[in-house]
Amino acid sequence: MAAVTEQAIIDALRTVMEPELHKDLVTLNMVKDLKIEGGTVRFTVVLTTPACPLKTEIKASCDKAVGAIPGVTKVEVDFTANVQQGRSQIKDNLIPTVKHTIAISSGKGGVGKTTVAVNLSVGLALQGAKVGLIDADVYGPNVPMMMGLERPPEQQDGKLVPAYSHGVKLISMGYFVPEDTPLTWRGPMIHTAIQQFLRDVIWGDLDYLVVDLPPGTGDAQLSIAQLVPLTGAVIVTTPQDVALHDSRKGLFMFQKVNVPILGIIENMSYYVCGKCGERTEIFSYGGGERAADKLGIPFLGRVPIDPAIRVGGDIGLPLVVANPDSPQAKAFMDIASRIAARISVLTATASETIPVESLLQKIKKPLTSGA
Ligand SMILES: Nc1ncnc2c1ncn2[C@@H]1O[C@H](COP(=O)(O)OP(=O)(O)O)[C@@H](O)[C@H]1O
Ligand SMILES: [Mg+2]
Repeated sequence: MAAVTEQAIIDALRTVMEPELHKDLVTLNMVKDLKIEGGTVRFTVVLTTPACPLKTEIKASCDKAVGAIPGVTKVEVDFTANVQQGRSQIKDNLIPTVKHTIAISSGKGGVGKTTVAVNLSVGLALQGAKVGLIDADVYGPNVPMMMGLERPPEQQDGKLVPAYSHGVKLISMGYFVPEDTPLTWRGPMIHTAIQQFLRDVIWGDLDYLVVDLPPGTGDAQLSIAQLVPLTGAVIVTTPQDVALHDSRKGLFMFQKVNVPILGIIENMSYYVCGKCGERTEIFSYGGGERAADKLGIPFLGRVPIDPAIRVGGDIGLPLVVANPDSPQAKAFMDIASRIAARISVLTATASETIPVESLLQKIKKPLTSGA
């Protein structure tokens, strides 16, 4: 039997497409460490994110393509990930060791923005990414509580060492703003604080830096979006709130500063009975999806309303850690993967870096500012 050649394997892998990037693994330079031992072929696929939702699919395609080569008896595929540098570095060098920055925003408070920010950050870390989290919500900085960390960060050579919990590095406004600070004083503190969070915090190498923005679409949010070199923004809504109105405002705000929208998440979407598992649609089904569709932005998924999610927040043990096998945790993990995948696509198609412009053209009805 003819020996299996490296060339035959490369040729076979040229037929395996990366499903999101629509190019083959060889062209994308995603194959490394190819070894042939008799009929056993072993290689590593370098994914664009450790949170890749398509690992299983890619593995099956590799097995099939390489397995079909005469003489190959076994195919072993390993995975590793190398997150590609995004806009962050290009636009700003305050945080050159951070590859991507993701803003979590909402039209108003209480929709679960922080809950989502925390579970997504921890979810990305659980999937192997290096993750940081900035709690920029000057009006209600409760990320430390939800991450189980009340202790302020330590200093080192005049810089701040981020706190660390559940695999995530964390800095919060809450560490610096005394609880009794009047609301009117808080707004003006944001700008300087964010600057310090970028410049004076030892973040180290990060794949994703998640920013929990203050709720709303006003000046405070705009100023942060301008300071932080954002790869993209995620909009969190609840079913009652998904009226196009709010999502549109969010879209406009990020458009002003050329930040792509990664998508919409519908939180507190439906209720799953803890006893019988029956699913109840408390509000009308599909509002988030419809809003996303109308605005031409991706729908990232729905998170159910679940007392365990609230308890997890209250005791500082996010649900993805407290009960990782629950469908609710899985909802968060899937959304985290979708965001990571979308960032990979945005980065790979960096020549089209202003998708919001083209997105706006997709909107059927003409929009007016402040609509
Ligand atoms: N999916 C959910 N199920 C149950 N409770 C939730 C869910 N999402 C958020 N909560 C709870 O709702 C409250 C508001 O959430 P929070 O994340 O603080 O909102 P925001 O940051 O938008 O103000 C918190 O008590 C939180 O635990
Ligand atoms: Mg919050």
